[in-house]
Amino acid sequence: MSNKVNVGIIGFGTVGAGVARALLEKGALLEQRIGARPVLRRVCDRDFRRSRGFRLPAGMSTTDPADILRDPDIQVVVELIGGLEPAKSFILEALRQGKHVVTANKALLAHAGRELFNAAAKSHTDLYFEASVGGGIPIIKGLREGLVANEIDAIIGIVNGTSNYVLTQMRERRLSFHEALLQAKQHGYAERNPSLDIDGHDASHKLAILTLLGFGMSVKLEDMYIEGISKISQADIQYADELGYCIKPVVIAKRVDHELEVRVHPTLLEKTHLLANVNGVYNAIYVHGDMVGGALFYGRGAGQNPAASSVVADIADVVRNIASGATQRIPLGKPVAHGIRRVRRMGSVETRYYMRFMVTDKPGVLAKISGVLGRHHISIATVHQKERKAARIVPVVMMSHEAKESNVRAALQAIDRLGFVKRPTVAIRTEAPRSQ
Ligand code: HSE
Repeated sequence: MSNKVNVGIIGFGTVGAGVARALLEKGALLEQRIGARPVLRRVCDRDFRRSRGFRLPAGMSTTDPADILRDPDIQVVVELIGGLEPAKSFILEALRQGKHVVTANKALLAHAGRELFNAAAKSHTDLYFEASVGGGIPIIKGLREGLVANEIDAIIGIVNGTSNYVLTQMRERRLSFHEALLQAKQHGYAERNPSLDIDGHDASHKLAILTLLGFGMSVKLEDMYIEGISKISQADIQYADELGYCIKPVVIAKRVDHELEVRVHPTLLEKTHLLANVNGVYNAIYVHGDMVGGALFYGRGAGQNPAASSVVADIADVVRNIASGATQRIPLGKPVAHGIRRVRRMGSVETRYYMRFMVTDKPGVLAKISGVLGRHHISIATVHQKERKAARIVPVVMMSHEAKESNVRAALQAIDRLGFVKRPTVAIRTEAPRSQ
């Protein structure tokens, strides 16, 4: 084969520009390392007027995706427009045309991963997606290749850089939620629609991909429990801090007997927990397997260059596979859910809870609250009442022992109906460190 592989990029946004620039500037270096040269041939976008900080060579830009999808000389199509359509049609068309595809499109993979993998297998082409989870962290390669000998029993991660950045800024700089989010947007971390980040959906897409790779299970998004960070207040960040915890935007896929817990929510982590020290835009994914024990993957989870680093790594893999005739080296079509029968109902999940009650400061209040908790089999580990200042409403913060989610929900519903409870109670789950 020729030692050149032509690449077309669809989507010249933040990540697309980073990839284009890397291919233009690092072609020779990549060729030395890979043994063949990925050559940028075409870049497609609707609009090229906005400055991307560098110039594409003359004649490289197009506004028509067909110029890439139908160009017989382009072997690798990089899809970086995001969203479900037209991205899905572009990818399927590229695969039908016998082209290999690299994408960062977590939403599409979460919704239609199996269909795309089957289409790639059918046309005997490669579909790579390292940048879809964890930005610059090679977690996809880690799970598919590095940990292939393992039965995975837990994946616990911080996979949304924007949410992690917002909570970190709120804790370290006492910023409001909105001030911190604005900064995340200005840095280019947030999705075009930042509610995808803040409401946990971006993280759920990434968790769907991790669950597929780690446990061989295609979990539908509607079967996951998803809760965002917008209800986390400065007060809870401070009380958690006083109790020795950080609040982190966590995703969890964990085997419990024959069921898999698959959930996305803000979580209290003890400050000594490895993931509690993952701050700002950094992501980390902790994987526990039967042979490796615990393994932690850490790095920048959002931003132009980290994501582009992963996309270029995928292009390099595809180029290597073409060069060695090893396309479909790692097929992805087959489910391999060893012994896991279903997704665990959220009501059955057991964790310790942080609870903040806003109550009138008068005798008997604590006794009534602990009575309701007791009737719902919830055992209290610690109680802290904050000093009353001007207002007559005081926060009472409790940590529970392990309790069942359905019991906690029922108890809090009953408690919030009591006359001395003045605001809806805040409850945040905790996650204990796993033994190595
Ligand atoms: N908006 C995403 C994040 C970017 O904040 O993590 C990477 O997927």
